[in-house]
Formats: sequence, C-alpha cells, structure tokens
Amino acid sequence: MTGQRPVDGSPDRAADGPPVALVAGASSGIGAAVARRLAARGSAVALVGRREAALKEVAESIRTVGGTALPLALDLAEPGAPARAVAAAEAGLGPVGVLVCSAGAIRLAGVHETEERHWERQLRINLTVPFLLARQVLPGMRERGSGWIVTIGSGVGCEVVAGSGGYGVSKHAVHRLTELIHEENRDHGVRAVTVAPGWVSTRLAARPSDLGVPDEQVLDAQDIADTVAWLLDRPARMSVGPLIRVEPSASRAAAGTAMTRHLTSSRDRGAGPAAKETP
Ligand SMILES: NC(=O)c1ccc[n+]([C@@H]2O[C@H](COP(=O)([O-])OP(=O)(O)OC[C@H]3O[C@@H](n4cnc5c(N)ncnc54)[C@H](OP(=O)(O)O)[C@@H]3O)[C@@H](O)[C@H]2O)c1
Repeated sequence: MTGQRPVDGSPDRAADGPPVALVAGASSGIGAAVARRLAARGSAVALVGRREAALKEVAESIRTVGGTALPLALDLAEPGAPARAVAAAEAGLGPVGVLVCSAGAIRLAGVHETEERHWERQLRINLTVPFLLARQVLPGMRERGSGWIVTIGSGVGCEVVAGSGGYGVSKHAVHRLTELIHEENRDHGVRAVTVAPGWVSTRLAARPSDLGVPDEQVLDAQDIADTVAWLLDRPARMSVGPLIRVEPSASRAAAGTAMTRHLTSSRDRGAGPAAKETP
C-alpha cells in the first residue's frame, strides 16, 4: 500500500488537553494496549499499522469508551511512509506530542544463517522507522517546548543472545538512538525513553505453552502500556531512563532464556533456525 489514508473518516481535532499521540504498530499487542491506555488518559491517538481491519477494531474500542482515534493503514517500511503517517496524524488530530514506536519485525537466526533481506527488513522497521518518525516530530516538539518519544525496545537488545540476529542488533541500536534523541532534546522539553520488555504474550512472541512456561509468568501487553502511561505522568522536571527494562519475575520467562529455548525447540522440530517472523 502506498499513501496513508484514514480508514474510517477523520475525527474532530483534539481540544487543548493531553497531547495528541501517534502509536506506530497500534494494530495489535503492545501498541494496541498503549494506544487504548493513552486514549483513556485523554489523548487523541493516531493508530498506524498495515492491517486495516485490526486498526479499525482498536479505533472502535477507543471510541466506544468516548476516546478519539484515527486509524491510518500503511506500511511504515515503504519510502516516505513515516513522514506521511505524521502528516496525516497532524492534519486529523493536531501536533503530535507523544510518539510511541512499537512497530516491530523479528526473524531469529544466527549471523551465518541470516539472509540479507531479513537483516534489512528488521533494521528498517525496528531502527530506521523510529528514526524517520522521530525526525518528523522533533522540530515541532522542540518549537513547542514539550514532547515524548517512547521506543519499545527489547530485553534482547540489552544482552548478547546467540541467535537473536538482526532483531537483537536493531533493538540494541534503537536503544542508543533513543538515548541520543533524549540527550539532544532534553533542553527543549523533549524526553525520550526506551521501554525494553522481556517476554510479552503477543502474536510476535513464542507461545508460553510451547516452551512449558505458564501463561501467568509471561508479561501482558497491558503491563507495558501501564509503564508507558506511568512515564508520561512524570512531571516535566523529571527524566527517567534512558531505558526501562520490564521483565517477567520468573527467570525461566526471561527474554534471553526464552529466545534461546525457542530457537532450540524450533530446530528440534525441524522448523529451521528462522522459525519466527512477523509478516
Ligand atoms: N512480545 C514480546 O515478547 C516483545 C518483547 C520485547 C519487545 N517487543 C517489541 O514490542 C513491539 C510490539 O510487538 P508486539 O509484541 O506487540 O507484537 P505485535 O502484536 O505483532 O505488534 C507488532 C506491530 O508492528 C506493526 N508492524 C509491523 N510491521 C509494520 C510495518 N511494516 N508497517 C506498519 N506497522 C508494522 C504490526 O502491525 P501490522 O501487522 O498491522 O502492520 C503490529 O501492530 C515490537 O517492537 C517488538 O519488537 C515485543
């Protein structure tokens, strides 16, 4: 899909109040939970992802409880798409004051087994897209003297996990990018933080039951949404970060451990080293 398009009409512009939010990767999982949470705090929220029907569902769930949501169906990996997403959000809702980068792609494999196209795809979605989105919103945030950029990183980007491939590298790099954004913009009222989750039960991650881990030991997308909302509630004088790790309490549900086990079990089943990929 090329150009952005509101999938079900433009809502009214948000009145003064909580800042307009743009959530990249809002069609499911962590991004959808964050979008609902920010809408519940009063933000008008632009929802970005490729799956139009899923975006509409999230938007509907927000509107049902009185919130404002603008679904924007587009592929952020396409040239120019991040800029179009921001332009459409600002045209429909007003200046973006909170950017949440949750869109992600994963393809697990050792370096020697990683195909170039998979490497590039992960770097594009997990690192370049957050850079392009941030570059688009930062001038306005600096001018207004306020703004938040929250990146959903990963525990796997904090450690060297064999087999984490382009995913681990892209997450490690986006952690640094977020820190850099914070450092360059802190005197302009803009704060940037990475929230780096461990294993969260979503469509992107391995199913806990497949790896013999009880569901309740794995994080829920809501846990990450709560963390993001907590961050945004901090007073302007307060900076948290540059990175907040949110891990399951149980060590066997820790991100690195789970990923190693997932790769091993994929190989045992003959599924090959790259059994997991976000489409
Ligand atoms: N689940 C975990 O255990 C875990 C742990 C650590 C970090 N994370 C990170 O959390 C973030 C969210 O993942 P999730 O676990 O919530 O899985 P998810 O439900 O699969 O969410 C991924 C989101 O990224 C969007 N996306 C992917 N490619 C896109 C593209 N080209 N253009 C636009 N949107 C795109 C997807 O939307 P469409 O498919 O509609 O495009 C979806 O909304 C990711 O960055 C992931 O790396 C997850």
